[in-house]
Amino acid sequence: MKQESQKLLGLDRLFIKTYGCQMNEYDSGRMADMMKQAYGLRLVATPDQADVILMNTCSVREKAEEKVYSELGRYKKLKEKRPDMIIGVGGCVGQQEGERIQKRAPYVDIVFGPQTYHRLPEMIKEIRRDRVCLTEIDMPEIEKFDHLPKAESHGAVGCVTIMEGCDKFCTFCVVPYTRGAEISRPVTDILDECRELLAGGAVEISLLGQNVNAYRGPGPDEEEWDFTMLLYAVAALPGLQRLRFSTSHPMEMTSELCVAFAEIPQLMPYLHLPVQSGSDHLLKVMHRGHDRETYFRIIDELRQHCPDIALSSDFIVGYPGESDEDFEQTLDLVRRVHYDSAFCFKYSPRPGTPASKVEDSVPEAVKDARLQQLLTLTREQTREAMQSQVGKTVAVLVEKESRDAGDMAGRTADFKIVHFKGQKRQIGQIMPVRITEAYGQSLRGELILADD
Ligand code: SAH
Ligand code: SF4
Ligand code: F3S
Repeated sequence: MKQESQKLLGLDRLFIKTYGCQMNEYDSGRMADMMKQAYGLRLVATPDQADVILMNTCSVREKAEEKVYSELGRYKKLKEKRPDMIIGVGGCVGQQEGERIQKRAPYVDIVFGPQTYHRLPEMIKEIRRDRVCLTEIDMPEIEKFDHLPKAESHGAVGCVTIMEGCDKFCTFCVVPYTRGAEISRPVTDILDECRELLAGGAVEISLLGQNVNAYRGPGPDEEEWDFTMLLYAVAALPGLQRLRFSTSHPMEMTSELCVAFAEIPQLMPYLHLPVQSGSDHLLKVMHRGHDRETYFRIIDELRQHCPDIALSSDFIVGYPGESDEDFEQTLDLVRRVHYDSAFCFKYSPRPGTPASKVEDSVPEAVKDARLQQLLTLTREQTREAMQSQVGKTVAVLVEKESRDAGDMAGRTADFKIVHFKGQKRQIGQIMPVRITEAYGQSLRGELILADD
């Protein structure tokens, strides 16, 4: 049956180009699983020989649409040589741009959004049959997850989407418009998917959601479960050694969740908790729902239960109306919290967001200067955090081969990347590594073997 439909459609190789967040990575994995199961398509590393090219796009920051069109220009040349090739644009730009994409790039066969990709095999059959272009971007009521095939395991770390979408509507952000409203998957489905990944060799599970700790899903007892209840249930699965989650919203940080970091041994001491700004005024106009004192209180509570927790955050500089004083407050917050890592962005207006309707008032040169100042401070904190590891022996989950020959790469409990001489067969094992050197974003170490 599989071979038959494969021959019928004349498709063999699939290339997926992924941009954006971890959830897009997850979605691309599911697309690949689905296309393999439906048509026997196999994933290839370059677009040149592919029969189907899918772009899984992100629109969260500047020039997202332009990046997509310039990449598409490259695919157009391939399609001129092989007109039977299928090109699809999915993800958040697909959702936002819809039919505009095919107007500007008529060689695109399919446009789809994050909530419709489960229909890809059908869409492909349709366009093969009817030779038409398709746009599928409505947000259907039905659960996409019910229509996806079982997850295939892809290594030591497995990701599972537990909730999707966002109801927070921060003024600068497109995500509520591209991913839709918050929807939580049933507990049983999540646990089943985790079990599959563990059976396939995963030892770490990372739970994903745009606001992962806003999870409120139906439990097996017919009650609504919150995020912390789900965490305890996932942590109890046999074979699970490490548990992580991302991305959390400060407004959804409960005391129970802070306590979970002390009580669940599998829950790793690392939290990404975006704050965006340290200024009360900006937090308010951004519609973040909390002030700086509330954020400090959460951090204190976390550290009280888990003193070694490594923290990271996202920051936006140059939001409309950001004054020197506002920015100073952000620097002050960073100095007070002390982050192990940080992601800093210059504000860029995104189509359709409330912030895009007010003037993008901070001059580019000021945005640049503030970004540099914030980067200098956060990089210094990262450097200190990395340096503090030198000489320690830490538990590293060996995840993959590193780019340098003979080197393996893995992560510490608090999510720092470590490179060391090792072997491929060690992938999936948690091993003691003595840290010998610290770099800007990673560590170097030596494996400690039992007979040392
Ligand atoms: N759900 C997550 C963040 C999703 S977007 C949360 O609420 O924290 C990831 C990051 O992109 C945001 O945290 C923000 O720092 C940045 N970002 C989003 N919109 C942006 C914009 N218009 N300009 C610059 N950075 C933006
Ligand atoms: Fe965007 Fe805010 Fe929702 Fe995060 S919480 S996805 S920043 S709207
Ligand atoms: Fe980007 Fe969409 Fe993720 S806008 S960050 S791919 S939710």
